[in-house]
Amino acid sequence: MKATRIVYASFAVAAPAILLLAACGASGPAPGTPEAFYVDLGCAKCHGNEREGLRSGPPLDNLQDRWREESLVEYFKNPKEVVAANPRLKYMAEKYPIVMPAFPDTSDDDLYALARYVLSDSDQATDG
Ligand code: HEC
Repeated sequence: MKATRIVYASFAVAAPAILLLAACGASGPAPGTPEAFYVDLGCAKCHGNEREGLRSGPPLDNLQDRWREESLVEYFKNPKEVVAANPRLKYMAEKYPIVMPAFPDTSDDDLYALARYVLSDSDQATDG
């Protein structure tokens, strides 16, 4: 019994330290954060780490002018359909070699977190 308690106690001390290390590590954003989804789902590969845009994807700037969380989640699930119905996106898609892929296997919670992340000001999201 006593030994178990000691193990728990040392875990309680170690766990936050490990999380802190993960958050500060050079290996990228902390797991489970929207920044991590952004990298893990490959968004960064096409849109850039700072959402600045690359040859494979447009910059994700001022999205709040044109998107709401719900419409973005719809788009992530089925970009083909949303692009087909939206002349601006259609025109944009034609300028890129690969169309935006769908993310049907990602949970709604994660997609909403991601939507909020890309809707936030990209200047605030970058810390150097
Ligand atoms: C293979 C490259 C690629 C990947 C991966 C990708 N995108 Fe895109 N994205 C594009 C392209 C190309 C467009 C232009 C429109 C289109 O093709 O659908 C686009 C358009 C967008 C738009 C609309 C921009 C606007 O101005 O309205 C948003 C938002 C977006 N992507 C977010 C994301 C997020 C978030 C992810 C990760 C979950 C992601 N993209 C992954 C290539 C990509």
